[in-house]
Amino acid sequence: MDHIYLDHAATTPMDPQVAEAMQPVMTTVFGNPSSVHRFGRKARQYLDEARRSMAKSIQADEKEIVFTSGGTEADNLALIGTSLANQAKGNHIITTAQEHHAVLDTAAYLEQLGFSVTYLSVDETGRINPDELKAALTPETILVSIMYVNNETGVIQPIEAAAEILSDHQAYFHTDAVQAFGLIDIDVNQTGIDLLSASSHKINGPKGVGFLYAADGIKLEARQHGGEQERQHRPGTENMAGVVGFQTAVELVMANKAERRGKYSQFREQFMERLTADGITYTVNGKLDDSIASIVNLSFPGTGVESLLTNFDLEGVAASSGSACTAGSIEPSHVLAAMYQDNDERIMNSIRFSFGSFNTTENVIEAADRVAKIVKRLTS
Ligand SMILES: Cc1ncc(COP(=O)(O)O)c(C=O)c1O
Repeated sequence: MDHIYLDHAATTPMDPQVAEAMQPVMTTVFGNPSSVHRFGRKARQYLDEARRSMAKSIQADEKEIVFTSGGTEADNLALIGTSLANQAKGNHIITTAQEHHAVLDTAAYLEQLGFSVTYLSVDETGRINPDELKAALTPETILVSIMYVNNETGVIQPIEAAAEILSDHQAYFHTDAVQAFGLIDIDVNQTGIDLLSASSHKINGPKGVGFLYAADGIKLEARQHGGEQERQHRPGTENMAGVVGFQTAVELVMANKAERRGKYSQFREQFMERLTADGITYTVNGKLDDSIASIVNLSFPGTGVESLLTNFDLEGVAASSGSACTAGSIEPSHVLAAMYQDNDERIMNSIRFSFGSFNTTENVIEAADRVAKIVKRLTS
């Protein structure tokens, strides 16, 4: 049995062209980019070129890109770095109830440090209300962090509206764009985004590398100490092979963004149509019109997330949920819990399917048939 991967929001396979681009950086171009000699200068050229590519992908300037070890570090640096550096201006932060844990847990840490955090709610479709943001702002607010696309539901947040509200406020605007980057057109200047997190392994690049875009002039305290790298925002010798792999991944996704959007949209439609044709009852978490095409989160009434995922794996379908299994009990997804009332069964019977480079029409339809077979068995 071949295994079908429908979990591209968790991570993606590395593109062979990415692996190829990384090869020389691991062998011949091994210099330390901070060294002044020939070996170092060669590595520096690679690093500078990668930084230019990253900057271009979001219409930023190269000096505004800080390489990190991934999305989690970029989120931590954005939140902690700006909060610590701007305490004199206030101690209030605004984020949302359905952020990735890289933001939520960091916000909780900042609360421990004495910052006050407001968590905006989301409606049943998974979106924040910009009016709630407006009402939550105070003269003490120094940072607002709202994710671009939710990793569990694919729901796109009203980023332009939020940026517009913040345009005449002192608060910096950060967005975790880990799931949006590479699929949505992003122009940080036009939109008014001050800080943006991106991660390489979600776009067929290597794991363990990402970047934080921090607009010129942003006050940001480094999380590490020890060197001058990354304009002192992130000391430590850069992950050169990772950065070059990430660069190639970015160049590849930027070249065919529209084409991939169309392809994933078709996969999503074909997958859902096939489930319907197979006689399966399901509902969509979030609104498809406000969602990214590569992620769909479906609720299967009368089932449970644990038995669904175990059986999917046995049948060769890799998908996931936001629920975490801790010490034998299932912790509900905080994203779905933020969207629905406490006892709503959708919180406990929903699965995320995410499409990407591993997929074809054939394997998406085959996966739907396997999913349908399991759902029928569990509900009969
Ligand atoms: C929205 C979002 N933010 C942050 C992260 C963390 O990124 P990384 O795995 O690169 O640390 C992820 C990864 O799942 C994510 O989906």
